[in-house]
Amino acid sequence: MRHLIDPMDLSVKEIDDILNLALNIIDDKDKYSEVCKGKKLATLFFEPSTRTRLSFEAAMMELGGNVLGFSSANSSSSTKGESVGDTVKVVSCYADIIAMRHFKEGAPMLATMKSDVPIINAGDGGHNHPTQTLTDLLTIRREKGRLSNLTIGLCGDLMFGRTVHSLIKALSRYEGIKFVLISPDELKIPEYIRTEVIEKNNIPYKEVTSMEDVIGELDILYMTRVQKERFFNEADYIRLKDSYILDNSKLVSAKKDLSILHPLPRVNEIAIEVDDDPRACYFRQALNGKFVRMALIMTLLGLEA
Ligand code: NCD
Repeated sequence: MRHLIDPMDLSVKEIDDILNLALNIIDDKDKYSEVCKGKKLATLFFEPSTRTRLSFEAAMMELGGNVLGFSSANSSSSTKGESVGDTVKVVSCYADIIAMRHFKEGAPMLATMKSDVPIINAGDGGHNHPTQTLTDLLTIRREKGRLSNLTIGLCGDLMFGRTVHSLIKALSRYEGIKFVLISPDELKIPEYIRTEVIEKNNIPYKEVTSMEDVIGELDILYMTRVQKERFFNEADYIRLKDSYILDNSKLVSAKKDLSILHPLPRVNEIAIEVDDDPRACYFRQALNGKFVRMALIMTLLGLEA
């Protein structure tokens, strides 16, 4: 039985296969509309979500399957004191596959020890978010036609942003990748990502505080929200929340074929005016999330069209 907890649980070949399957699904949706007939996906979301939960549910429905679950810790028995392990043990009696989001790092990993069905990590605290990474990779592949030879700027909350951590890990396995890490000093990437992932793989990188200084070098600009819910005090959040605001004036010096990604939700970090720029990919990215989750569900359940 396969789970997906960390993006590195998948080999480069397996990621390629999932992206190829997602592209096939996009080309011929009807072919896949009954693949999950009779199967159920449970979404166990202990933390808020719009895209991740709804795209998982839409993905299962478009494969002909059904969905059940809860969308907040408050509406589950965790408020009565039930452990994640017990919740998962029980839900794996009702569902064929489980997508779980939890505020505690490692909770989905713990769930794999109790589950009789595949567990997908839909975000665990400030740690990992592997299905957002698959979404990001599919988006880069569709926008750029490749996952190699790219200079990728990651901007915003690199410390707490789990999408950033997972994306850096996944991209570290492709040729010709360079990272430009743009953040306030207080929100730099965690030490373990810098040493264990970037430096260990000899990937060229730089850490800067100014977006304007580097925007012209980038093929991809991955914007992120400052992760309010992970801050220990509100004053720090208020001081840092508007560190970067991408607007049309900053895009003047960017490449003509820059791709701007954002896992969403956005707060202030991308001005609305940017939405009309053809380089803005973030809403296409959200759509890609549904197709790649369809491909992932099929893969973990061992199903073919
Ligand atoms: C991200 C997350 O939950 O980590 N959202 C998402 O899944 N698309 C990013 C965020 O919340 O800022």
